Amino acid sequence: MCPCPVRQDEELRAASGFPHDRGSGKLDFSQAGPGRSPRGGRSSRVLIAGCGDVGTALGLMLCERGHEVFGARRSAHRLPAPLRPVSVDVTDRSAMERTLPGVAVVVYAIAAGRREERAYRRAYVDGVSALLDVLEHRTERPRRLFFVSSTSVYGERGGAWIDETAPLRPRGFAGESLVAGERRMLASPIPATVVRLAGIYGPGRGWLIKRARAGACCSGDPPRFTNRIHRDDCAGVLAHLIGCDVVDDVYIGVDDAPAEECEVMEWLAARLDAPAPRRVRHGEPAAQGAGKRCSNARLRASGYRFRYPTYREGYAAVLSGEGVRYP
Ligand SMILES: NC(=O)c1ccc[n+]([C@@H]2O[C@H](COP(=O)([O-])OP(=O)(O)OC[C@H]3O[C@@H](n4cnc5c(N)ncnc54)[C@H](OP(=O)(O)O)[C@@H]3O)[C@@H](O)[C@H]2O)c1
Repeated sequence: MCPCPVRQDEELRAASGFPHDRGSGKLDFSQAGPGRSPRGGRSSRVLIAGCGDVGTALGLMLCERGHEVFGARRSAHRLPAPLRPVSVDVTDRSAMERTLPGVAVVVYAIAAGRREERAYRRAYVDGVSALLDVLEHRTERPRRLFFVSSTSVYGERGGAWIDETAPLRPRGFAGESLVAGERRMLASPIPATVVRLAGIYGPGRGWLIKRARAGACCSGDPPRFTNRIHRDDCAGVLAHLIGCDVVDDVYIGVDDAPAEECEVMEWLAARLDAPAPRRVRHGEPAAQGAGKRCSNARLRASGYRFRYPTYREGYAAVLSGEGVRYP
């Protein structure tokens, strides 16, 4: 049984004009008609828009569980079987009208690709809006949307623990575009769930490993916290929520152990036989430099158990060469 509790992110709901008369906020897949919950061995048709590394891992996981999965992206020929490729640009409404199959669940996992404002707006504002315009005008709508967002939408910088209800105060165009995409999703008449992932690591995603190997310094004073999640847990979390009968509007996707950046880099350096990173003082007030510690309590209360509960298990798997990064 999936003990998914029901809560709402009041701030987002208020800001998005989310229709409160849509019900009590209780989002119950078991009442959803033909596209009912895939739990109990029932299969669903799922569309993953932006089927890259996380999307492909998710798609393959769902296929193993008996779902029919369509992966949409511009270069869909890169997708492995048994994913069903749909070559389309999510900013192109008429192409989506022609090509997108009817599905019960849609996961939006588009990445901007480049750290440029235009790319972020295309990915999270224009793309979301175009896709929803297409889906909302269909006679048979999906029963649920999932939007893959980021913990960068939160404003906390002083190292405090936060949960889903923390104030949204994104800095810069990346977080602002994500918040705009979240709002559009949550304002849709199609029920939607936002999953805010922390820093993704995994096979072929070794940014911290590279830094540790190169003997880079770390932020020791004030300590900076890093929140991480293994790519396979990103997929696992989404597959779990797709399989839940009742889901919340917003989840934070982070492992059990937010940790100081220096602690993670020291652990990695020891594993790599590299010199311990030099702890540096940034001379900035803690409120600027300490980051945040994200709680996964809501996700855990929903019944999800991490394959890689902390960076130790996850990076040990990466260092031993487990898995591949999907293109
Ligand atoms: N990196 C992190 O640490 C981090 C942290 C928090 C959240 N996230 C979020 O996690 C999600 C998944 O990330 P990922 O690592 O799986 O990204 P990824 O491997 O780069 O996959 C993103 C996919 O989006 C597709 N795409 C981009 N623009 C498109 C468009 N206009 N139309 C159709 N498809 C498009 C790309 O394929 P084509 O180029 O073939 O179109 C690509 O396959 C993203 O939403 C990302 O923002 C990432």
